[in-house]
Amino acid sequence: MRFGARRRPADDFLGALRPSGESPLTRPKPCACRCHAVGAEPAKAYVQSEQMTYIVNDNCIKCKYMDCVEVCPVDCFYEGENMLVIHPDECIDCGVCEPECPIEAIKPDTEPGVEQWLKVNADFAKQWPNITAKKEPPADAKEFEGVVGKFEKYFSPNPGSGD
Ligand code: SF4
Ligand code: F3S
Repeated sequence: MRFGARRRPADDFLGALRPSGESPLTRPKPCACRCHAVGAEPAKAYVQSEQMTYIVNDNCIKCKYMDCVEVCPVDCFYEGENMLVIHPDECIDCGVCEPECPIEAIKPDTEPGVEQWLKVNADFAKQWPNITAKKEPPADAKEFEGVVGKFEKYFSPNPGSGD
C-alpha cells in the first residue's frame, strides 16, 4: 500500500488470511523522513521539522555555487535568478548541506539574525522552481564572494530555470 494512503477494510481482511501472519497492521512502513529505510523510526529531526529548518542567506546571491543541491535528501532547494532558497516546510533539518556551501551561505534558523532570510526562503520557495542537480555557477561568482549588502544591491525576485 502506498505510504500515507488510507487503509481499506479489504487490506485488513487479506492480511488476516496470510499464513506468515503479516498484515498491513504489522508490515514495516517506509521511514517518514523519506530516506526510504523500510521499518525505520522517523528521524528526530523530521519530528521537529515544523519548528526548525535551514536557510540560505544573502552570501549566496550572485555566487550560486549549487553544491548544496547535490546532497539534500529531500530535494527542497528552489532556484531564483541569482540565488537559491530552502523550502522551510520541506527541509528535514538534517544539516548535510551546510558544510557543502563553500561560502557559508547556509545556516540553521536557530542562529541569531536569520529571521529576514527565513522569510525570503519561505516566500520565494513557493514561487521558484525546484533544483536538484548542480549546474555551472555564474562565471563571475568569485567576484561576489564576501560582498556586503548583496540583498539590497543585487537580489532578484525572478525565478531561475530549475531542473
Ligand atoms: Fe536539505 Fe539542507 Fe534541509 Fe538537509 S538541512 S533537508 S540538506 S536543505
Ligand atoms: Fe548558494 Fe552555497 Fe548553495 S552559494 S547555491 S547556498 S552551495
